[in-house]
Amino acid sequence: MPTTAIPPDQLLSLLRDPVDLNPLELEGDALVNRAGARCYTIADSIPVLVDQANLGPQNARIQKMYGWMAKGFDMVDRVGNLFSRGAIIKLRRLMAQKLAIKPGDCLLYTSIGTGLDLPYLAEQTPLKQFQLVGLDLTMEMLRQCQKKLAELCANALLVQANAERLPFADGTFDVLLHVGGINLFDHPAQAAAEMARVAKPGALILIADETPKVVKESYQKGIFTRRAVKDISTKFDPRTWVPADVCDVNYEEVWRGKGYFLTFRRNRFVREQET
Ligand SMILES: C[S@@+](CC[C@H](N)C(=O)[O-])C[C@H]1O[C@@H](n2cnc3c(N)ncnc32)[C@H](O)[C@@H]1O
Repeated sequence: MPTTAIPPDQLLSLLRDPVDLNPLELEGDALVNRAGARCYTIADSIPVLVDQANLGPQNARIQKMYGWMAKGFDMVDRVGNLFSRGAIIKLRRLMAQKLAIKPGDCLLYTSIGTGLDLPYLAEQTPLKQFQLVGLDLTMEMLRQCQKKLAELCANALLVQANAERLPFADGTFDVLLHVGGINLFDHPAQAAAEMARVAKPGALILIADETPKVVKESYQKGIFTRRAVKDISTKFDPRTWVPADVCDVNYEEVWRGKGYFLTFRRNRFVREQET
């Protein structure tokens, strides 16, 4: 079985400046875009590629909310799983199965959070056999994820960035996953299009989140969440976010209508013409 422990410097070479997508060079503790004359820091091995000054208002509110939720996030998820009689774990397992990650694949997980999906991904394919790149807007969530990765002895690159502007070149990833954040983004369709842009030809993209009903009935009423999500329209339809140049589109509601899985593949034909 091939293993994919990509050396750290090669992992960093996957990164691009989110502003102009130019390559970045490692210089001491910083990533430098010579062409664009911009420089990004690395905080405890996590490149900080988020343009904080230009975050949309909704993204900024959500980032703040997850910043203070990060330490208790796993406990809340465990309680939610108990109340749902194991439904959340079943869904995480089902997503991991659908991804069908192969040894040697490079997986991008946008909005990885604290890494709660990692054990279920590992059940399908040992984490050491594929390359994981985990991205999130909230540093505090990434720090929790970093602890989990250390416990699992997994080789991964974590990046702080906005999923609406991915810091990677076109056609980088074999498999792409997003769970649980997109409904609350400023520009969800842009985030889906970005996933398609950085996908290799034929790569599977899976986006999972809760349905508008849950946003309305739980998030907009919850005491800890209602402030951050009060302006979200609950009339959204994830099918309208499907980008051009993709195929095999499938939308299915799961968890008795509380969640959805949206899957599609980067179109092979268009991508092969481009490359
Ligand atoms: C409900 S949590 C889901 C975390 C994880 N995927 C899980 O299933 O446990 C949503 C995550 O989306 C992240 N997020 C919110 N807006 C984002 C954005 N614009 N770009 C990237 N991540 C974002 C939050 O920081 C948070 O970690």
